[in-house]
Amino acid sequence: MSQRKKFVAGNWKMHTTLAEGRELARAIRAEVENVEGVRIAVIPPFTSVAAVAEVLRGSRIEVGGQDLHWEEKGAFTGEVSAPMLRDAGATVVLVGHSERRQYFGETDESANRKVRAALAAGLSPVLCVGETLDERDAGRTLDVVGRQVRGGLAGLSSAELARVCIAYEPVWAIGTGRTATPEQAQEVHAAVRAILRELGGDVTEAIPILYGGSVKPDNAPALLALSDVDGALVGGASLEASSFSAIVRAAA
Ligand code: 13P
Repeated sequence: MSQRKKFVAGNWKMHTTLAEGRELARAIRAEVENVEGVRIAVIPPFTSVAAVAEVLRGSRIEVGGQDLHWEEKGAFTGEVSAPMLRDAGATVVLVGHSERRQYFGETDESANRKVRAALAAGLSPVLCVGETLDERDAGRTLDVVGRQVRGGLAGLSSAELARVCIAYEPVWAIGTGRTATPEQAQEVHAAVRAILRELGGDVTEAIPILYGGSVKPDNAPALLALSDVDGALVGGASLEASSFSAIVRAAA
């Protein structure tokens, strides 16, 4: 087990109305309020960030955004900036999620601009990386993930690197019920850890590397026990307080 504090975040994706989001946040708060030693975040759609932050005020549970624009403000219809997320109560933001890469044209360059914008606003960016099934089958997993990590973190100072989080989410494991085996996860996490050391030296030891992709209460303990897995980014199982809190407890 590593020295890094475990971090469990729930990505609600495009789910929850305001009422549903408040209710889910209340239920999660009730279930994990007394769990010590784990950093916890919930990441609702933009429309619910402020309302969920309000429900979670005074708790240890953080709130995040699922994406952001790199400019602070301007004529960018449909976009939300880092200062706006901060203002709504967010402390965390996802960057470069594979669904943004697949469906909305996110690139390593745009992810890099977003990571910088998040850091500048005092948000904790969670840079998401991961290979497709074709890339894995072609033996390119470490190349692809390495390129995404280097690209997303390009040009950051050591002090900035120390404030970043990484989430390894193999695309073929997202929403499929198919999880990376502990060996597959450990291999990629160790490779990411080595790249981080190369980029920023000792300060990067504190960077949590989360695993994501069909994390459920039954597979979480084995994944979270791996030496280079510092937490989980949970999709589907974060939409129910009972399963999300079971994963939080597995990390404790
Ligand atoms: P699932 O847990 O639903 O596979 O989603 C993972 C994910 O994409 C979290 O960001």
